[in-house]
Parts: sequence; C-alpha cells; structure tokens
Amino acid sequence: MSSQVLIRNARPYGEGDPVDVLLGDEQILAIGADVAAPTDAVVIDGAGQILLPGFVDLHTHLREPGREDTETIDSGSAAAARGGFTAVFAMANTDPVADSAVITDHVWRRGREVGLVDVHPVGAVTVGLGGTQLAEMGAMAAGVGQVRMFSDDGKCVSDPLLMRRALEYASSLGVLIAQHAEEPRLTDGAVAHEGPTAARLGLAGWPRAAEESIVARDALLARDAGARVHICHASTAGTVELVKWARTQGIAISAEVTPHHLLLDDSRLETYDGINRVNPPLRERSDVEALRRGLADGVLDCVATDHAPHAEQDKCCEFSQARPGMLGLETALSIVIETMVRPGLLDWRGVAKVMSERPAQIVGLDDQGRPLEVGEPANIVLVDPDAEWIVRGHDFASISHNTPYEDMTLPGRVTATVLRGRITARDGNVFPLDGGR
Ligand code: DOR
Ligand code: ZN
Repeated sequence: MSSQVLIRNARPYGEGDPVDVLLGDEQILAIGADVAAPTDAVVIDGAGQILLPGFVDLHTHLREPGREDTETIDSGSAAAARGGFTAVFAMANTDPVADSAVITDHVWRRGREVGLVDVHPVGAVTVGLGGTQLAEMGAMAAGVGQVRMFSDDGKCVSDPLLMRRALEYASSLGVLIAQHAEEPRLTDGAVAHEGPTAARLGLAGWPRAAEESIVARDALLARDAGARVHICHASTAGTVELVKWARTQGIAISAEVTPHHLLLDDSRLETYDGINRVNPPLRERSDVEALRRGLADGVLDCVATDHAPHAEQDKCCEFSQARPGMLGLETALSIVIETMVRPGLLDWRGVAKVMSERPAQIVGLDDQGRPLEVGEPANIVLVDPDAEWIVRGHDFASISHNTPYEDMTLPGRVTATVLRGRITARDGNVFPLDGGR
C-alpha cells in the first residue's frame, strides 16, 4: 500500500477557492478546506496550481516491440507521466504489428509492470496492417489487454468493404475503430500539404481531399453498420465540417486533433527541416483556425498527441526521406494552453474535457476522466498554469528527441501526476514501480 497524498490549496478545474484534496490508494478520500494530514501522508503544496483529472491519450506510439532504440513502454510511460497522463493508448504499428493477443497482452502487462501510466494496447484492424485481412479482433478484445480500440494507424483501412466489415465486427464486440483517414491513391509520394507552400518548395502534395473523402466515406459506413467510428488526427477545416454534418445525421462519429495541428502550419516547411514532416501534414493557417474552433465548439471531441518517436538519423535527413511524426506527450498540455486557453477558446473545465473526460468516454474507460469528487478514482494531475519553460528535446524522458518545439518558451507545467493514489511524476521526476530499466 502506498502512503496517502495530500494536495494543499489547489483549485480543482481552476475554479473557486483553493481546497485540500486527500488521495487514498484508489479513491479521492476528502476535498475541503483544512483537511487533516494523516501521519504518513506525502503533502504537496498546490498553492497557485490547478487540479485536473489525469489526461488520457488515445493516440501514442511507444515503438515496443521492434524499435526500442527510439522508445519503449518504459520510456514512453515516463514521458506520459511527466506530461500529466494517467492512461495512454499504444498504437499497433509496432514490429511485429500488434495484430494478435500475444502482442497486445505483452504491451498491457509491461505497462502494468512499469506502473507509470495505464498502457492500453490498440489492436490492428488488419493482419500486419496489410489492409486485406481482418485481424482477430475478438481474441485481442478477450485477452488480458482487453483491447477496446482497433486501428491500422500509420495506414488507412482504405478498402471500403473491409472497413465496412471491421465496423460491423467492432460493433458486435462493443469496441471502437479509429481510422487514419488517408486515401492512399491520393497521397502516393506525398510529403507535405498540397498548397502554395509545397508547390513553391517543390514538395509532393497531400490534398485535403485525401483525408476528407475517407472521413465522409467512413461516416456513411458507420451509419449503415450502426457502428461508431473515431477519426484520428483531424487536420483540415473540411474534416471539421464533415464531422459536424455526420452528427446532424445521428452518426456515431468522434474525432481527435493533435497539439501540433493546433499550433503549426505549413509555413514551417520553408527550412526543409525533416522535424516538421508528419502525417497528416501540417496544413494552412485557415485549417489551424478551424481546428481550434472545432475543438472549442465540441465538434472535435478531444486532443490526442500522436506521439511519434523517431531516431535522429530518420529525422535529420532530406525532407522527403524523413520519417513522419513528432513527439507529443511532454508538450501536449503546454500546446493546449498556448493555442486554446490563452486565446480564451477553452477554460480549465474545457481542458479537462478534451484531454481527459471525452477521450475516456470515447473508449469506455470507467476509471479515467472522472469528476474530481470524493469516491472517484485518484487519477489526477496538478498543473502550474503560470510556469514557463523552454523546450529541450534532450531533457525529455523519451528516448527520441524529435520535437518541433525545440527552444520555444511554452506556458504551463505539470507538477505532479497521480495514478490510483500513487505519485508517478513530480517536478519532472518519475517513479516507476519496477525502478526503471
Ligand atoms: O506522423 C505520423 N507518424 N503519422 C502516423 O500516422 C504514424 C506515425 C508514426 O508511427 O510514426
Ligand atoms: Zn495516423
């Protein structure tokens, strides 16, 4: 049993007067002015700080098994805890692909051993992400890892008949399909958003329609299958409009947006620095604005990091050769503050909603994204909203350093993360159950 944690003088959701919050092994035990400290309690001074439910990331790449030189469940869990996350969903595009319960169970077990964050495995929709044969979703769902979300992320399930079957099957299993919306016939060789910038720089363009045509198609497939569909990393204004339209039709669609698509646009490509290559690509300022509005209005449900670690040699090379993807776990909150809180598009309740509550609801986690109330799970994050920090990729817990925010001064810092009553991160230090590898 861990000792109890008492957070003094913090403001839940940044609202009202500061209170003390006592966290037990599993639950929030007390909230109020002057809660008495149990003898063995760890006391954290939360003055000036904000208490939120622990963040939930529906889209993380942890690279284990296969690319442990770039990230492991251990290092990725540390990055997650430092970023304020208490649950992450580890994408299936590992090597071997997480298309069987052997792999998904391993990911879950290793996550529990490390104990810094609940690592929920995402299962592949198709065998080997090959896009031709459905993976054994039922076996993965029934395994120890209890897979509740399936995705071929990195690739699109582009065959409409296969997608239809996947949605039908997922619906009967009560699990979620998350689509990386990219019509591959429209993105052959594409490395950048199709527009004036890519044209000028001589980079092969990725049209908005490559994303939007799949979003529209999958909304219709979900409608007909009576199934739910989740759209990964929405990147265009048109995707926001399509999701809004689908909802008016009663279609069960949800969508996430990444921190990088909320902040960066394709003007970043001028330097040809591979650090800015990502799928889907950075779009135009008008898309960035539409994504922010979409998140503020609730059309886009949540923020998901698409944390994508890559080795130095795979990013520091010719733009078109660079692997797509950027780190996200340790900067997500700060980018959300910068793009949504500071401009007045979201308050702290809104941050709790898009970084914790909605993602937990979308995948049906009943122990995450819960209200900060007595009797609720002790999964919380403490945030210093006034802190400013300079991003240094080499200071991250991630093995890789591919952050597009290097040297930027960002607002807000996670000061403590608590998972089931146990401190997993505090002031940048992490406390793995197994002492770390
Ligand atoms: O930029 C990306 N990187 N987008 C994806 O869809 C996959 C990811 C990765 O695995 O690196
Ligand atoms: Zn993706």
